[in-house]
Amino acid sequence: MIPYGRQCINEEDIQSVVDVLRSAWLTTGPTIERFENVFADFVGAKYAIAVNSGTAALHAAMFAIGIGPGDEVIVPAMTFAATANCVVFQGGTPVFADVDPGTLLIDPASVESCLSPNTKAIIAVDYAGQPCDYNALEAIAEKHDLVLVADACHSLGARYKDCPVGSLALLNAFSFHPVKHITTGEGGMITTDDPKLAEKMLLFRSHGITTDHRQREEQGSWFYEMVDLGYNYRITDFQCALGISQLKKLPKWIEGRREIAHRYDDAFHSFLRVRPLSVRSEIFHAYHLYVVRLDFEGTKLNRNIVFKQLREAGIGVNVHYIPVHLHPFYQKHFNTRLGLCPIAEQSYEHIISLPMYPMLSDKEQNYIIDCLKEILT
Ligand SMILES: Cc1ncc(COP(=O)(O)O)c(C=O)c1O
Repeated sequence: MIPYGRQCINEEDIQSVVDVLRSAWLTTGPTIERFENVFADFVGAKYAIAVNSGTAALHAAMFAIGIGPGDEVIVPAMTFAATANCVVFQGGTPVFADVDPGTLLIDPASVESCLSPNTKAIIAVDYAGQPCDYNALEAIAEKHDLVLVADACHSLGARYKDCPVGSLALLNAFSFHPVKHITTGEGGMITTDDPKLAEKMLLFRSHGITTDHRQREEQGSWFYEMVDLGYNYRITDFQCALGISQLKKLPKWIEGRREIAHRYDDAFHSFLRVRPLSVRSEIFHAYHLYVVRLDFEGTKLNRNIVFKQLREAGIGVNVHYIPVHLHPFYQKHFNTRLGLCPIAEQSYEHIISLPMYPMLSDKEQNYIIDCLKEILT
């Protein structure tokens, strides 16, 4: 099976993990700060806080901006559940905005229609690796005194008007799951330029406790205080060693992903049943996913049939995503219903994610293209 995404690990990665495994610090050690520093430099942010998942990164962001019961946070319907769940973790209410039909990115006009006196923040999701319309979202946030948070779990390495993702919003969350641009197994990062928010998130990732194990050891002290309710969202040093090693290769991998995307674009250019998502001119796409919209008009096909046939041909396609408001949890607890975000709902019936990762070979890609064309012809 050709997977839809997969990690790329070489001997240098393995050696960097082994080196840390042989060192004194497996967690709360110096490699965490090293990873945070190189990551912050890479995305042009002042602070980076490493945590053990992208979900933890989003949760820390919601904590840092003080989301609580009664607060509403606007999120796109077309995203992974964690984007909305992080609001619920804090007792807040996610409000689902619809997406642009061409890009499937959060639609600023829909965001405006979701505003209420209780709105506190907007979470922009750079779906598939394409940055959102940050100028438009920032203008709404400023006008209504809201915080703009970027769920950049798809877009490490992307740019908006020459600004790297990671420095576009007040808080920016990343994931290092193996299908993402770089991996630490599980892992995440939040970047910000705000020292107070950075400090809050550092406490939050370790139980809300003022010192960590290493600091206490270095100070020869056992004393600590818990000043806030936090979690154990700590990442290990050997994961961070992998992250540092992976980050070195990221620019080359992004180029690889972009080449694959352009080959797909060319292959489907004159095949109208497969429509790649639109790409806005002011952005540099990082292609976490390659999502196409399928046109079934006049055929007996639907997305599920095409999905099944591609899987049977050994092609690990996927669907990103079931609109979050349609999940049973949200229908049950937030009374969300079909019809709330019609563009996300209609798009969901037509989209499929084709394999996309730097090591995908030309031969594999040609096979995927041929199979898809054959099914739809
Ligand atoms: C848009 C988005 N947000 C958040 C997450 C959560 O990241 P993680 O799986 O690292 O917790 C993901 C992961 O798939 C994602 O795609």
